[in-house]
Amino acid sequence: MKISIIGAGNVGSALAERVLTANIADIVLVDIAEDIAKAKAMDLTDASSLAGYSKRITGTGNYKKTEGSRVVFVTAGFPRKPGMSRDDLIAKNAHIVKAVVKNIKTYAPEAILVLVTNPLDVMTFIAYKEFGCERKRILGMAGNLDTARFTALLSSELNIPHEKIETFVLGSHGDTMVPILSKTRVDKKPLKDVLGKEAIEGLVEKTKKRGAEVVRLLKSGSAYFSPSAACLEILKAVIGDEKKVIPCSCVLEGEYGLKGCAIGVPAIIGKNGIHEVLQWDLPEDEKRALKNSAKAVKDAINTSSNQK
Ligand code: APR
Repeated sequence: MKISIIGAGNVGSALAERVLTANIADIVLVDIAEDIAKAKAMDLTDASSLAGYSKRITGTGNYKKTEGSRVVFVTAGFPRKPGMSRDDLIAKNAHIVKAVVKNIKTYAPEAILVLVTNPLDVMTFIAYKEFGCERKRILGMAGNLDTARFTALLSSELNIPHEKIETFVLGSHGDTMVPILSKTRVDKKPLKDVLGKEAIEGLVEKTKKRGAEVVRLLKSGSAYFSPSAACLEILKAVIGDEKKVIPCSCVLEGEYGLKGCAIGVPAIIGKNGIHEVLQWDLPEDEKRALKNSAKAVKDAINTSSNQK
């Protein structure tokens, strides 16, 4: 089993380390800055006997080496700077993602593509158009990251282990993300039974701003431990054909009354990528919020095509 990771920066290299630690696939790490990819691959290889890696990693600037990859993660692109929104990255990152996907199409046309570059949902849709494959092989990591962030905040606020929390965050990986409170359970109880309205609203707001808070504190770069963990969850679901429900950005074909964009929805992930997009019967306010989120993504997609 071989996978590729495009972009050997913070997210790409953290993901490479997680995949090696999990011992599930050989890795080709590609970066336009070829020496960085080589250096990170070398450094990780040198850790093999210490950390118990049995899989191999190769660093390169040459996409030919991605041939035969089962899954390709696209992390190439610029991260946010303090004060920037993810949408501020559109012009620069759309250009990078298109170039990357063109190369993957040439050398690994059968791969499942997982987008990580921000703004995530816009990049997922751009990659879908550029790759020209059926939508099941294109997904964007982020719904599970936003869900994990909300879970972490609930867990520390309520002092309850994360295993006892069930929640989903759908919609775009941005300010319009939609925590699905109607399906949130704490120790099997509805969230509203264990936390007041104001406290819930406060945690929802914090979830939306969590990524920006990391960016603000880091001052240079953005989050990578949790994004790489979210990527690994998707990879394991594909490699193990787990058919696991993972909120991730999918190109919509009428689900939730939406099409012509990608946003975070609950999807069953297995060996072929998206096995099925689940259509949950959500309350009106959450349906409206999803529509609003999709509109924001569509507007951003239009902005990006006007910037060509
Ligand atoms: N092809 C390959 N690699 C590229 C290209 C390209 N055309 N353009 C840039 N890169 C590489 C850079 O050389 C750099 O090593 O992408 C890497 C990005 O790494 P970082 O700057 O550390 O960014 P990172 O934190 O990994 O985030 C990458 O993921 O979470 C999102 O918002 C984040 O859009 C950003 C992306």
